Amino acid sequence: MHIVHIAVEMAPIAKVGGLGDVVTSLSRAVRDLGHNVEIIFPKYDCINFNLVQDLQCQKSFAWGGTEIKVWFGKVEGLPVYFLEPQNGMFWVGCVYGRGNDGERFGFFCHAALEFLLQSGSRPDILHCHDWSSAPVAWLFKEHYMHYGLSSKVIFTIHNLEFGIHQISKAMSSADKATTVSYTYSKEVSGNPAIAPHLHKFHGIVNGIDLDIWDPYNDDFIPVPYTSENVEEGKKAAKTALQQKLGLRVGDYPLVGIITRLTVQKGIHLIKHAIHQTLERNGQVVLLGSAPDPRIQNEFVNLANQLHSSHADRARLVLTYDEPLSHLIYAGADFILVPSIFEPCGLTQLTAMRYGSIPVVRKTGGLYDTVFDVDIDKERAEAAGVEPNGFNFDGVNEAGVDYALNRAISAWYDARDWLNSLCKTVMEQDWSWNRPALDYMELYHSARKN
Ligand code: ADP
Ligand code: GLC
Repeated sequence: MHIVHIAVEMAPIAKVGGLGDVVTSLSRAVRDLGHNVEIIFPKYDCINFNLVQDLQCQKSFAWGGTEIKVWFGKVEGLPVYFLEPQNGMFWVGCVYGRGNDGERFGFFCHAALEFLLQSGSRPDILHCHDWSSAPVAWLFKEHYMHYGLSSKVIFTIHNLEFGIHQISKAMSSADKATTVSYTYSKEVSGNPAIAPHLHKFHGIVNGIDLDIWDPYNDDFIPVPYTSENVEEGKKAAKTALQQKLGLRVGDYPLVGIITRLTVQKGIHLIKHAIHQTLERNGQVVLLGSAPDPRIQNEFVNLANQLHSSHADRARLVLTYDEPLSHLIYAGADFILVPSIFEPCGLTQLTAMRYGSIPVVRKTGGLYDTVFDVDIDKERAEAAGVEPNGFNFDGVNEAGVDYALNRAISAWYDARDWLNSLCKTVMEQDWSWNRPALDYMELYHSARKN
């Protein structure tokens, strides 16, 4: 089958959040099943071009009052067409945040369809993502279908919080729609943009790319490890992390947090958990950045405060840092994800791949992938997995305490058990193996309609 993703984020060349991870890793997984998967992407000036192989300008076409150059290159082995409008629309130094994002991405979606039409490419599936490439769905139905393109359009919602107008229009036009976990699909099923379309709306939980996230083959951690030598590997990573960040080197329970700092992610719960971890004599490392300057400032203040009151045990790194994220996944004992809502969440899955135990709020994809060792035995059995973490309900501090305190107590009082839990979570399969098959089934059923 010939599948074309039209998207505005892609890891590792231009990633803002999990959407970028999914575009790359889902594409690789479906390609590995033997299909032809291509990506059409804006040629931002902020792309990390070192990570694009064999980039060449292939041709150009005129559309929308400008010349659009078409570049071709490979990213993580995937064929990518980069569209570069010569009016400079994507030469603004960032992916999002220019005030006219809707206009820019609308233009890009239209140009992508025009490129397919003019180049004679006839994909079976066009897969678009979130509000930013949602216009593909309705532009295709309103215009391009009539030019003889017979593709089916799949629309995936990664987050319903943004661009509800575009999402609503795409939901009406798409042949099939998905969101990124079963529980989130239920949580949003009453939303007016979704409710009329439940017959074509499916929840498919994301996976992670096991080659990109592999503690046995990771340049950013000191000792390669599998579940066989997880204790040795994580100990070396913890030491390296403590040294790198200037924390006291030693045997402390270490809680890691890797996140965009937005209201979605449970800001007040994150702050409380930091204090609670310190209270329990643990160490805490937060890697995060806030698109909202007000929230960024709050964390800068908190960092200043903690870096003087708890210099040896707390470090808040308020930036985006991919290599450091790998070292935290490996060096932490626990990864905390106390999101208020979470369509899927990838950090809890990556944490498990590195033998870190997730401590999460029960919502969306966090609910579908993390099963509490004390209270979710039956639910885990029904899902066919061993319990693998700690979780909590509610949006107040008592909830976080309930999960975090049990986790930290296990670290102090039941280390052997916790070490065996690390092995268990490492051996669980949170890859794309299963979800990629679910997407293929969906693509096939769209083609039958
Ligand atoms: P979201 O897409 O809502 O931000 P996800 O959990 O789906 O949440 O994906 C977040 C991705 O971004 C993960 O791969 C995580 O490791 C990464 N990430 C988040 N914040 C940072 C950061 N400050 N530095 C490096 N990686 C980050
Ligand atoms: C969104 C969601 C996150 C999800 C990611 C990838 O950014 O917030 O929960 O994991 O998309 O689908």
